[in-house]
Amino acid sequence: MDKIVIVGGRKLQGEVRISGAKNAALPVLVSSLLVDGWNTFHNIPDLLDIKTIRKLLNGLGVKIEGKETVRINAGGLTGCEASYDLVRTMRASILVLGPLVARMGEARVSLPGGCAIGARPVNLHIQALRDLGAEVTLRDGYVEAKASRLKGATIYFDITTVTGTENIMMAATLAKGQTILKNAAREPEIVNLAEVLIGMGARICGAGTDVIVIDGVESLHPVEAAVIPDRIEAGTFLLAAGMTGGDIRVLGCDPLHIEALIAKLRDAGVRIELDGEAVRAAGGVTARSVDVKTLPYPGFPTDLQAQIMAMMAIANGLSVITETVFENRFMHVSEMMRMGADIVIQGKSAIVRGVPKLHGAPVMATDLRASASLILAGLAAEGTTTLSRVYHIDRGYQQIEKKLSALGADIRRVSG
Ligand code: EPZ
Repeated sequence: MDKIVIVGGRKLQGEVRISGAKNAALPVLVSSLLVDGWNTFHNIPDLLDIKTIRKLLNGLGVKIEGKETVRINAGGLTGCEASYDLVRTMRASILVLGPLVARMGEARVSLPGGCAIGARPVNLHIQALRDLGAEVTLRDGYVEAKASRLKGATIYFDITTVTGTENIMMAATLAKGQTILKNAAREPEIVNLAEVLIGMGARICGAGTDVIVIDGVESLHPVEAAVIPDRIEAGTFLLAAGMTGGDIRVLGCDPLHIEALIAKLRDAGVRIELDGEAVRAAGGVTARSVDVKTLPYPGFPTDLQAQIMAMMAIANGLSVITETVFENRFMHVSEMMRMGADIVIQGKSAIVRGVPKLHGAPVMATDLRASASLILAGLAAEGTTTLSRVYHIDRGYQQIEKKLSALGADIRRVSG
């Protein structure tokens, strides 16, 4: 299996263009299930998770051409089953459930099972589908759902769920009557998906707020649209500038999508400049410790929690980082401690006491964002860091070592 080797201590400088957002591209590609005809989607990132969703959609009879610009046609659907072997490698596969029931009248999708960061149940997806009139049974580890035609309903999500909101918003576009989603997730990826669906002829308002209203239509038509830049990748690079005392212009990201991070970076003493489509971060002095609490958007994103912890590990002072979204998202802590970080976990919080320097070490990736945090730690550490199980990082970052090398990092991928 590949490893990534980093010799730390270099200041990162220059410009980096952000790729399309993984968590927008996945639901946008799945939305093609709702339509008979060729859709064109631009700015699709080249990631392992995108390869996985393409495989799953191909298995359903969806035709897909192209890579960064994708043409995709679900006119000839041949099946409505998403198997365990695919779904267990990527939980977001559950997103096909709603669209398949809406388009085909039935779906059989494996329950995703848990992952490193938590149990991650899909009970809210299932309950909401039942609220739309689907008959849903759980059998042999699969969700089996049937509905001659979904019926609009008012749905209240107990917990704000990103893919739950996306799954049901897609399903509701073809339901009979009006659906109101309450306590809906407000992420930019949901707004992007809603814009794509509206381009297909769906009638949706309120995306980006916690109440989304969808008036069902008889059918949808193909659309040409683009996927937004990846705010989590953008945030990762801004943190890299802050941690290495460098100066990086991140191109293509929308500053509005990372306001919570920008506020924290400024509190920590990182200079941030916004100019048009670029966000510039300049480190230079040791960061000040800041407290962080992850929350649904527009709160501080859980997907940047591990990465800002890497920065707090070498900041001046004590930082309390509280993870409120997932129950087990501190897997990176033990690996960072092997690099000399001083972190104590107390329940949902990690108490991070900044140390002057981290030291390179062999470390293991456990999940996507933990891998990113260990790469950041390696860039700032003294000595060499070897990261194993890099397939985790390849799920969500396009050519991260190439982009970091171009900014002056001493980083390379070695096979074996
Ligand atoms: C999405 O996951 C993202 N994935 C995650 O990004 C992200 O961390 C997460 O949202 C939170 O922002 C994609 O968009 C593909 P949730 P999702 O449903 O939708 C609980 C990454 O690194 N919950 O918003 O699966 C759940 O356990 C990934 O790119 C239920 O209890 O997350 C969690 O505690 C990691 N029942 C909370 O809600 C349900 O039916 C939020 O989860 C659904 C969720």
